[in-house]
Amino acid sequence: MADENVLEVRELVTTFGRGANARRAVDGVSFALRRGEILGLVGESGSGKSVTALSLLRLIDPQAGRVTGGQVLFDGMDLASEADARMREIRGRRISMIFQEPLSALNPCYTIGDQIGEVFVAHGDGAGAATRKRVLELLRLVRIPDPEGILRRYPHEISGGMRQRAMIAMALAYTPEVLIADEPTTALDVTIQAQVLNLIDGLRRELGLSVILITHDMGVVAQYADRVAVMYGGRIAETGEVGAVFAQPRHPYTEGLLASVPRLGARWRNGVQRLPEIPGSVPGIGVLSAGCRFAPRCGFAEPRCTQAVPPLMHVPGDGAHAAACWVRSPTPHALTSEDFR
Ligand SMILES: Nc1ncnc2c1ncn2[C@@H]1O[C@H](COP(=O)(O)OP(=O)(O)OP(=O)(O)O)[C@@H](O)[C@H]1O
Ligand SMILES: [Mg+2]
Repeated sequence: MADENVLEVRELVTTFGRGANARRAVDGVSFALRRGEILGLVGESGSGKSVTALSLLRLIDPQAGRVTGGQVLFDGMDLASEADARMREIRGRRISMIFQEPLSALNPCYTIGDQIGEVFVAHGDGAGAATRKRVLELLRLVRIPDPEGILRRYPHEISGGMRQRAMIAMALAYTPEVLIADEPTTALDVTIQAQVLNLIDGLRRELGLSVILITHDMGVVAQYADRVAVMYGGRIAETGEVGAVFAQPRHPYTEGLLASVPRLGARWRNGVQRLPEIPGSVPGIGVLSAGCRFAPRCGFAEPRCTQAVPPLMHVPGDGAHAAACWVRSPTPHALTSEDFR
């Protein structure tokens, strides 16, 4: 694995159900996370973003599904096949995750201070004075005003923005190398959303974090991410530097996503602003097709698109930019892990 890649995901497959009911929610996803970058993972609801994130940390409910293929390379280990005990050491310490809904992720019966302290207890450190000091440090790190006061509050007694900051503090308890933020601001209003995203961006620089930022908001990607991976139907449709992908998207799905971002000064028709939309919806994971999963919704689809699944193919002249489209990606060269080096 190249030095600048902190995490490398290769051909990850996550399957829900068994036997005849087995369905792939993640179907051969590959990407790398470079040290110190923010990688935006975007896609419509149901495209497999959260399942990808949960799979990396082996947090898929074993009653429902499991990782059935691929590798997750991190510091010389393959997390897809590491022992459970090793995963418990890595999770929360070296790779942390923050979840979309802080209210449901926080326990209403414990104070914020106790819950952040519990992270240390769960990892075998005591609940004594040193932990209390560290909890206060963490609350200051995430710029919570009056940390001593917040320590004693219950989750319902503080605002949504403060709850999300508390969640970030928990995730940073052991200063992880990788932070996975799954829609960290969806539940927040726009001004608070900007504060929380600016905080994550600032912490990335301050602590040298590498961040996977999951969102369905292309505006958030444009503003905060260095690179982007666009997911559709459990696969990566397109990936590259944000500037290049936004300037010249190669996958019709990415084009559709970008076209449906509201802009000031966009066209108005009959006094009503109309945004272009992508017709149809993300296929359920039970819908199997021989070819490209986007083909039924795609204005460029040709017969070959329904015959074989397109691999990620390079965009000429830009080693980082690749798209999985038979029609729009002219180089017939599938990406390998070498391409992430
Ligand atoms: N526990 C589960 N059992 C069965 N199917 C599941 C389970 N969890 C997720 N799925 C399916 O996996 C697919 C991908 O779901 P996922 O939650 O990753 O989507 P997402 O991209 O995160 O969407 P959103 O933007 O709504 O959060 C969906 O079709 C979903 O129904
Ligand atoms: Mg999700």
